Amino acid sequence: MRDEIFSQKNDLVNFTFDAQVADVFDDMVRRSVPGYQAMIEMIGLSVKTYGQKNTNYYDLGASTGATSIAISLNNPHTNNRIIAVDNSPSMAKKCKANLTPVVDYADVVCADINTIEFNNASLVVLNLTLQFISPENRQTLINKIYQGLNPGGALIVSEKIHFNDPHTQQLMSDLHLDFKRANGYSELEIAAKRQSIENVLITDDEQTHFQRFKMAGFNTSTCHFQCLNFASFLAVK
Ligand SMILES: C[S@@+](CC[C@H](N)C(=O)[O-])C[C@H]1O[C@@H](n2cnc3c(N)ncnc32)[C@H](O)[C@@H]1O
Repeated sequence: MRDEIFSQKNDLVNFTFDAQVADVFDDMVRRSVPGYQAMIEMIGLSVKTYGQKNTNYYDLGASTGATSIAISLNNPHTNNRIIAVDNSPSMAKKCKANLTPVVDYADVVCADINTIEFNNASLVVLNLTLQFISPENRQTLINKIYQGLNPGGALIVSEKIHFNDPHTQQLMSDLHLDFKRANGYSELEIAAKRQSIENVLITDDEQTHFQRFKMAGFNTSTCHFQCLNFASFLAVK
């Protein structure tokens, strides 16, 4: 279904992943996040290298399940479970409906990712989710994920990022605006969504992500994909 939420809405409450957003999410994310499809494909491929037999894969903030599906399509290992977690009941319902017909080893859990335990994990994905977690809780969450990962396992974090150099920040913001315009969003829709989401989606810069991975104990971390102001980081234990 086409995302027209901000063409109709002008009561600017904070953005939430409610039933209305869940209905249009697939269209919204593709038209708003440059490189989203490639980002998902790269995550899917990573299961070949970092996935391990007899382990769990966690998809945190799974939304409608695109990441879990990409993982399942590429998984060459045996005896795995995909644990797809989202705290929005509408998203969890859609995720379950999308995963059930295509993967028989996935559990969809409606829960806050700050409260779950990570066990025997070889791949953990936070695809566009950490940015919605309170900044003061982010290090604790990454630490917990690190503790739950097996040696050789990986965490992938994709985020909207900001740049400390004002010129680069302006350039990337302008190019992102052009991307949204090219995907059919009007100036009014773009402005309304920005107002609605600005207190909810809190970006970090690249260095903050790397420092957080290091503090948690990850040996290696790198930016393995970037399109404008959206980046995917790969951290390996
Ligand atoms: C931008 S979407 C993620 C997109 C998805 N990972 C994908 O690849 O298509 C962010 C998701 O995180 C979920 N979320 C936000 N905070 C959460 C939390 N504390 N616990 C669980 N899910 C959360 C939202 O409900 C939403 O579905």
